[in-house]
Amino acid sequence: MAVFFDPGQMIFKLDTPRSSYAMQVSPQGYLFHLYYGARVSDTELSHLLVHGGGASFSASPADAPELSLDTAPQECPGSGLSDYRAPMISVREENGALAACLKYVSHEIRKGKPALPGLPATYCNGEDEADTLALTMRDERLDLTVTLYYSVFAKLDAITRWAVAQNNGAQTLTLESLQSACVDFPGMDFDMVTLRGAWMRERHIERHGLFHGTQSIQSRRGSSGHQLNPFAALCSKDATEENGEAYGFHLVYSGNFRIEAEVSQLSSTRVVLGVNPEGFAWRLCPGESFTAPEAVLAYSKEGLGGLSRTLHRLYRKNLCRGEWRDKRRPILINNWEATYFNFDADKLVAIAKQAKKAGIEMLVMDDGWFGKRDGDVSGLGDWVVNEKKLGCSLHALVERVKAEGLLFGIWFEPEMISPDSDLCRAHPDWCFHMPGRDKSLGRNQLVLNLTLPQVRENLLAQLTAVLESADISYVKWDFNRNLTEVFSSEYMGAQAGETAHRYVLGLYEILEALNRRFPRILFESCSGGGGRFDPGMLYYMPQTWCSDDTDAIERLKIQYGTSLCYPVMSMGAHVSAVPNHGTGRTAPLTFRGGVAMCGTFGYELDLTKVSEAELDTMEDMNESFLAWQPLITQGDFYRLASPFESGGAAADITAWMFVSEDRSEALLQVFRTSVLPNSRQPRIRLRGLDPGARYRLNEDWSLTLHGDTLMNAGLPLPEVFGYGPYQSMDIYLKSV
Ligand code: GLA
Repeated sequence: MAVFFDPGQMIFKLDTPRSSYAMQVSPQGYLFHLYYGARVSDTELSHLLVHGGGASFSASPADAPELSLDTAPQECPGSGLSDYRAPMISVREENGALAACLKYVSHEIRKGKPALPGLPATYCNGEDEADTLALTMRDERLDLTVTLYYSVFAKLDAITRWAVAQNNGAQTLTLESLQSACVDFPGMDFDMVTLRGAWMRERHIERHGLFHGTQSIQSRRGSSGHQLNPFAALCSKDATEENGEAYGFHLVYSGNFRIEAEVSQLSSTRVVLGVNPEGFAWRLCPGESFTAPEAVLAYSKEGLGGLSRTLHRLYRKNLCRGEWRDKRRPILINNWEATYFNFDADKLVAIAKQAKKAGIEMLVMDDGWFGKRDGDVSGLGDWVVNEKKLGCSLHALVERVKAEGLLFGIWFEPEMISPDSDLCRAHPDWCFHMPGRDKSLGRNQLVLNLTLPQVRENLLAQLTAVLESADISYVKWDFNRNLTEVFSSEYMGAQAGETAHRYVLGLYEILEALNRRFPRILFESCSGGGGRFDPGMLYYMPQTWCSDDTDAIERLKIQYGTSLCYPVMSMGAHVSAVPNHGTGRTAPLTFRGGVAMCGTFGYELDLTKVSEAELDTMEDMNESFLAWQPLITQGDFYRLASPFESGGAAADITAWMFVSEDRSEALLQVFRTSVLPNSRQPRIRLRGLDPGARYRLNEDWSLTLHGDTLMNAGLPLPEVFGYGPYQSMDIYLKSV
């Protein structure tokens, strides 16, 4: 058991292989946080509970005048009483009073990990993979219980938390916030690391020191968004990729979120994360309950790199699901940047023919095959094949592509509706809208109100009909605008604040149904690129299109940043045409291929317009990818040189490597994005190898070196690597 309980001291301690998390129930029933960090042997840790100074001006609870909740480290702080820091829960009574005070009632420790009703969450493959502590707390006045769940993974330094509030009383309560987790740290000597971005520029790494007050990241867009990922790390000031402490906080959720770090008057730090309380209010009638989404907490003493590897392992095996979790994904060609809306079946088959020559395995038909859709102004909502445009039925097209030896995939944007669509004409009230207000358009489209059961049923029926009409192996699920006028006739008045969350629950319900109906289909989520790259979506779809920016140089930053918390096997990455459609930049084909290999690997260009020589190069790249694929998708990922930091005398180098779990093989990828004349060749220090093992470097190099030599002395890059603005190399290492 990874969960220990000391009934004498009322202490709970959760142990992962290299981390410990401890808390204690006070004589009055308050649940205080004792410790989270590197593993400690003792369970009796009550001496760690330091309440801090007098905290004058902060009141004390009536049953504990010696305590200041405003300075005590708490597991489930409520609002409205004497803790003025960020609360985990806020509850409004019928009379308008806003407060919550939760005290320990009971607990249960069990093997394994329960599922969260209607929500995505990490899971166990066997009961031995995790233990779960369920701590029931109660607010006496409200007759409300909050069960705090802690799942402790046996082989990973990860603990996940979520909470369930249950109204056992007679009055109707309003949950104004129920956050998923709260962790109090005694100090503030941390940097906060987040992933910021924009469309075409997702998940760039940002790092800054904590300051007094609240620093938060959030989304109010209805989806997790391009702008800020629902992830934050707190790391020690000296933390690097290899060394130092790092704590990860990640929300398994795809809607409005908030992660805040609040540094108090006594310089302690509280991290709280969950569904964004802004605009949120959930009516909790007598007998009803509400489940807050899961938060993943991870700890590493091996810097940010160690933190990433823990999250990668967790998501690869305990979040992504289904047949495609472990299966090799086909190398695909997508027609979006090849044709945009201008294609028919003959064009697609012509691309498929060329693709086969290069060893590509699947053709994906992107936007434009349905309804009236020759541009982005119409058709969304009418998921009926436009046979006139294609020149044949979907079934016939799929069979033609299969006859060329390729699998077939298809694009949908199910959550949207174009005003110019049959669906909108038949059901003008099915989109989000507010009485008396105009409907805001984004990319000429509106968002379907997924809180309405009839909308979800219609969507499922339409999608099912298409997916059953032909042999479809893959679905790209797109979402190309943020929500506005979030209002639903089903949830008006006191329930209006539920709508945004209910939208996400509606989406999850559809995705769950599709996963069950079509277990063979590989799903990839997308939102104008990576606008909804979050662990919630990964639960239903094991890969996400990283960005609409397919420029390989830009992708270095995007994929490097994404790897902070997401596994490489989840990162959709394609080789596209040059000059790049988004940036106008031209990088060599092998450079573009190398970057796309650090991902799901595919193509997105018109193969009928490439030369035979380019097709041959693609064939070589595909062969290499197939050989390296197990290592790339299942191996450990080490970031070696950052595209955010490079420059100066060493030139602009980005480098990373993949190491197999048994450390018998590795792949090093190095990219150079500038030329610096008369400069010394950079030396790359490798990581993750077995120091005592000898590795042969690429067949043709005839160089064999020990792991410690490669990791300590490093590997100077060959002289030729300095010529030309965009250079890349792949070095494969095999232990001998
Ligand atoms: C979004 C996606 C693209 C493509 C287009 C189609 O922008 O990110 O890959 O599918 O939609 O309209």
